[in-house]
Amino acid sequence: MNKTKKVTISDLQKMKAAGNPITMLTAYDYPGAILVDEAGVDITLVGDSLAMTVLGHPNTVAVTVDEMLHHCKAVARGTKRAFLIGDMPFLSYQIDAKEAIRNAGRFLKEANMEAVKLEGGREVLETVRAILNAGIPVMGHLGLTPQTATKLGGYKVQGKTDEKAHRLLEDALALEEAGCFSLVLEAVPVPVAEAVSKKLSIPTIGIGAGPGCDGQVLVYHDILGLFDQFSPKFVKKFAELRPVILNAIQTFCQEVESGKFPAPEHCFEVDMENLKRFLEDNLK
Ligand code: KIV
Repeated sequence: MNKTKKVTISDLQKMKAAGNPITMLTAYDYPGAILVDEAGVDITLVGDSLAMTVLGHPNTVAVTVDEMLHHCKAVARGTKRAFLIGDMPFLSYQIDAKEAIRNAGRFLKEANMEAVKLEGGREVLETVRAILNAGIPVMGHLGLTPQTATKLGGYKVQGKTDEKAHRLLEDALALEEAGCFSLVLEAVPVPVAEAVSKKLSIPTIGIGAGPGCDGQVLVYHDILGLFDQFSPKFVKKFAELRPVILNAIQTFCQEVESGKFPAPEHCFEVDMENLKRFLEDNLK
């Protein structure tokens, strides 16, 4: 995979066909997006998980379209290569197709996203078709759908029985048939995700769905060890940045309080002759 050329939907399709795993990571702001992009991640998702990781809500339900767009704009400014997806928040696509198209369109028109993601299976099929008919690429999201976690009985693994696994596969096939270019599979047993991935011609991106998916997604704050309120089993921390950052901030406080910072090297020099009168009047 060329790590400089802009990633497109057809590149993602080719990666699946060639068996090359797709990487996807969330980003929520400009500096984060620059790092994700520079590292060579294929898809940057501005996830509605920002409700929790960035805005401090207990779940993803509260975040609004305007809040999502605010973050999408910043991420787009920091992205050169990754394919950009904006997550449609709860109740931005469920009310009716017109409202769903209008909201989805805002992610492209106002925030420079290239596609939207929304949660659900056959219950959102008409909406997915309407958004696609408006020319907006859609990524589906099946399995554990956090926006409706309460209805699912909590943050639980989905598709654990024959019947539920069949339903998940049917939903996946229906979304593919409707025209989704890719699907997220969240918290799904490994063999179920593998079977769904094999049956679909579009790429699946797993989170807690094992290695049989065509790609993997995780949350920025989780992989960097920045979010310590809880950590699902499927998270791997690739760094522990929270103590590093905490230590830096504590050291800043100590050095300001003790007078160690700022030191001469952090101050601007001036020709004292030019300030002679001012200093005599004011710094005696
Ligand atoms: O909101 C999000 O971050 C997501 C990913 C975890 C798939 O939907």
